[in-house]
Order: sequence, then C-alpha cells, then structure tokens
Amino acid sequence: MPGKVVLGAQWGDEGKGKITDLMADRMDFVVRYAGGNNAGHTVVCGDDEFKLHLMPSGILYPHITTVIGNGVVVNPKVLLEEMDNLHARGINCGKLRISCNAHLVMPYHMAFDRLGEVSLGSAKLGTTHRGIGPAYADKADRMGLRVQDLLDDKIFRTKLETALERKNAILVKAFDQEPFDADEIMAEYMGYAERLAPHIEDTSLLIYEALEEGKKVLFEGAQGTFLDIDHGTYPFVTSSSPTVGGVFTGTGVGPRHIDKIIGVAKAYTTRVGYGPFPTEQDNEVGETLGKMGVEFGTTTGRKRRCGWLDIVLLRYAVRVNSMTAIALTKLDVLSAFDRLKVCVGYSYQGKVYHDFPPHQTIFHKCEPEYLELPGWGSDITGITERADLPEEARRYVEFVEQAAGVPAEIISVGPKRTQTIWTPEGFEPRIEEGPYLYREDFEPPANNG
Ligand code: IMP
Repeated sequence: MPGKVVLGAQWGDEGKGKITDLMADRMDFVVRYAGGNNAGHTVVCGDDEFKLHLMPSGILYPHITTVIGNGVVVNPKVLLEEMDNLHARGINCGKLRISCNAHLVMPYHMAFDRLGEVSLGSAKLGTTHRGIGPAYADKADRMGLRVQDLLDDKIFRTKLETALERKNAILVKAFDQEPFDADEIMAEYMGYAERLAPHIEDTSLLIYEALEEGKKVLFEGAQGTFLDIDHGTYPFVTSSSPTVGGVFTGTGVGPRHIDKIIGVAKAYTTRVGYGPFPTEQDNEVGETLGKMGVEFGTTTGRKRRCGWLDIVLLRYAVRVNSMTAIALTKLDVLSAFDRLKVCVGYSYQGKVYHDFPPHQTIFHKCEPEYLELPGWGSDITGITERADLPEEARRYVEFVEQAAGVPAEIISVGPKRTQTIWTPEGFEPRIEEGPYLYREDFEPPANNG
C-alpha cells in the first residue's frame, strides 16, 4: 500500500493539521518529515482543540504509530512538554517513534536565532525564534548533535564541547553574550535522554517495513511550499524542505512508495513573517479575512498577513510537488465578500508572468493581475455535499481546480472534522490548455455534483 503525502501549498498555516487528522483515521502511521517546533498544527476534535508543534497530528488516534523523521529538528524539551500535555488530556504517546538521525535543537541555536534576527535589522526574516535555522545550519556544517547522541553520554559530551568551542567564541566576541556551559547542557539533555530513549529507533527501516507489509502511511508536511529553502521565496523561508522532496530526504523512503500527494491551500492566502506577498491586502479586505479566518499564528500568536488567492503560486506548488490533488480550506471565510478576486498573473515592466517569475525582483515589485468572481454571501459552514454549495461557491472551487489542473478532493468549510466536503474518488477535472484556464462557459464535471 503506497504512502500519501499532505503538504502545504502556500506559506504554511493552510490547515494541514485538520486534513492530516481527517486522513489519519484510515492510516496506520503518520510521519513528520521536516521542520521543528516552528510549526503549529491545530486539530479540533469534538469540542477539544489540540495545538501540536512537534508531534505528528495522528497522535489523537490510539491505533496510529506517529513518527518524527530524520528531516525534523527536535527540541527535546518542547517534545517532552507536548507529550506531558497530551498525556494529561488522556492521549497516550507510547507509540511515538523518533528517528535516531534527527538533529537536536540546542539552547545555543535559539540564542543564535534571536541574535541573527537582531543583527539583520530591518532586513530580518521574522523567524519564530525557535532555533530552527541555526540547527539546520549546524546539520549542513556537520556540527549538529543527533537524537542518537543522547544514547551515549561520552559521544554527546565530545560533540557538545566541540560545538561550544566555536559557538561560545562567536557569542562572546561577536555578540558580547555570556557563553553556554557544557555541564549544564549535559545535565539537562541527559535528563531528556532517559525519557526519550524508549522512542528512538531507525525510523527509515520501520516505515519501509510498514509499507512493504501493506500498512498505510501518511507523510505530514509542516510549513509550506513557499517557505521551502530551495523552492520558496528565499531568503524569506524556513531552513528545511517542506516540499515533496523533503519526504524522501526527511524519512529515508523512496518515491516508489508514494501514490498520492495532497497540497493544502486556503481559499485565500496568508503569510507570517516578512517577505514579498503580491496579493496581500493591507486594507479592509485583509482585516476581514484575518477576522473571519482567525488568522493568528499557532506557534507565535502573531497576526498573519492576508490577501486574495494567488493562482500563479498555486500552479507552481502543484508543479514542484507533483501534487495529485488539493485540499481547499477555509472556503467559508470567503462568505464575507460579495465579489472575490483571484490573482492569475503578475505584471512587471510591461510583461505579464503566468508562472512563478525567474527573478526575485519581479516577484517583489510586480502588480497582481486579478480576475473577479462573484461571491455567494451566505453561510456554508453546515454544508457537507458539494452539490449543496451555492452556485458561486461551486464555480470558485471549479475555477481553482481548472487553474491548478488537479481536483479539490477535500473542501473545508469550518474547523471541525464534520465541516468537510469530500469529492468522490475518481473525480477528474477538465484540464484545458493555455496559461490560465478559466472559461466563462465552464461546466462542472458530471460526477462532482
Ligand atoms: P523559522 O522557520 O523560525 O526560521 O522562520 C522562517 C520563516 O518561516 C518566518 O517567516 C516564519 O514566520 C516562517 N514560518 C516558520 N514556520 C512556520 C509555520 O509553521 N507557519 C507559517 N510560517 C512559518
């Protein structure tokens, strides 16, 4: 049984937690492959709300084995706090497996994250200050400590002292900060080691064997395509690979085992932190989207920047992730508008770009080209069949499907599990040629209501 992937098609916060949680029901394994506790996944289960940062969303199902893959950077303190909180609410984390090769977020990573941002001044990225960038930088620099190092205090100490030699020199000389003490960190991390040891293993082998045995495995993305270190809006990105490539490098599983890649996209766009955002609405529209969509970060509580849906970005995300479908979330938020705008191209110096532009300056300075669609202006939060959506809402979804070239297999109209419209298996959107695929006379495919 091949694996499935759920990943972010925008700048994160697309509602992946809900979609993963919905699909997890039918899975045996849920695997995180990238990022760290910069992520924040909100899962609503009945009247209970769970905010997860490191823990894979499948944790709420007792039958699921949750896995933190080697591509994740693990802050053990945060992970243990999350496990304790879940335990206090009756959730058993006994089946959590952690890759022995995942890297650890160390106290000095958080210090360097904060100092790095301060030294950038107005050019700062707006990171989550969770030490994510410095932890991945040390991994690439072969200076990182891994989860398996927790199992051998001698190795841990040797690597820690080597790292601190360099880190402390920079902290003291360049930033005029207090150095970190190896003994203190040892004592703290060896305490974590004791509790985490039963969960640590070779998760690449574990997942491989599960897939070969026909078990169902869901790979859960964190952040989103445009925060990808290679394919995102660099340098305003995170330091990992939220795109589909990250599944392979971040878990040790190969492409043969994947048959479905679902990109989660909001029916509009949001972003937190700094960086270009062509369809941003720094006005009443943005305020309304933020208010109706409750657009505040799960991890940092920061207000998210809001704007119209950007089809250029969505098409790029479909392409770089080989998406087989999208999950369109928060469609209900658009009920607040009479007219809806969708960006279908970028205009810059007399040229219109329908694909993600090849130079950052174009993306920073372009003017979005909008197409207007009628809104529906009514509450859709109780609708569970696509055919029951107002005509305008159906057309909006069909437009997105046509433009993206993949079906919206899941449409979310509210935070609860029940507030979801599933498109029957086998739905094929009609894919037209041309730069953008909207046609006035477009008719919905026969089998989608
Ligand atoms: P970092 O991942 O903390 O280094 O932050 C780098 C950029 O990614 C910043 O703009 C963050 O706001 C953004 N970012 C990181 N994680 C998330 C997430 O889970 N959702 C949305 N944005 C994120």
